[in-house]
Amino acid sequence: MVSIAVLGTGKVGSALGTKLASAGHQVTYGSRAPAREGGVVSHRDAVAGAEVVITAIPGTGVVGALEAVGAAALGDKIVLDPSAAFAPDMTMAYPGDSVAGRVQAQFPRARVVKTLNTMNFTIMVDPLDSLPDATVFVSGDDADAKDMTRTLLGDLGWPDRNILDLGGIDTALATEHVAPLFFATVRALRSPTFNVTISR
Ligand SMILES: NC(=O)c1ccc[n+]([C@@H]2O[C@H](COP(=O)([O-])OP(=O)(O)OC[C@H]3O[C@@H](n4cnc5c(N)ncnc54)[C@H](OP(=O)(O)O)[C@@H]3O)[C@@H](O)[C@H]2O)c1
Repeated sequence: MVSIAVLGTGKVGSALGTKLASAGHQVTYGSRAPAREGGVVSHRDAVAGAEVVITAIPGTGVVGALEAVGAAALGDKIVLDPSAAFAPDMTMAYPGDSVAGRVQAQFPRARVVKTLNTMNFTIMVDPLDSLPDATVFVSGDDADAKDMTRTLLGDLGWPDRNILDLGGIDTALATEHVAPLFFATVRALRSPTFNVTISR
């Protein structure tokens, strides 16, 4: 059992948190609006007890949210980042850069892994019923953090053969910039339920 803080209570946070809890992990939701009922606490309180922190919030808010938690509280925890960062006109907020890279640079002790950001939230937790060849990318500098990510991806339904380790956190730039392709495909298919597959 892994203790996991899910920051953000929207579509991605709820989907990942629900599936990981059902796999037996201890999930605590962190929110800007902690609720007395329902086990939703502040970001800081959620991170305090966690081994893994999932940043299920808008990409442009991730560094600020973690700064508010504090580098000391974040320590060397694993930060699993599925976020995407958009400008108000929905162009990339950080051309030539990535949220995950920014987080790693700002918090050098944290072990940041970028994953799950290249697909709709429904596919994140239900990848294989209709998409047996779907690919999920992993980027990060820390081998142990990527091993933990593989374990959690397995619990979300991703077999090892579908997980593609792209290398260091610098490769998060590539997957974050899949977003324009993703949105163009949504428009073309009139559906967000598809995924990228690397065939070879
Ligand atoms: N939806 C998808 O299919 C999908 C796919 C790939 C990647 N992503 C990425 O995953 C992240 C979450 O997406 P989502 O679809 O779950 O979004 P969402 O449904 O809008 O939920 C995001 C949550 O983040 C929190 N939040 C909102 N603004 C914030 C801010 N400025 N600072 C800190 N927290 C904030 C809110 O939770 P509280 O009110 O509880 O704080 C909100 O419920 C985004 O970066 C998105 O680009 C989404």
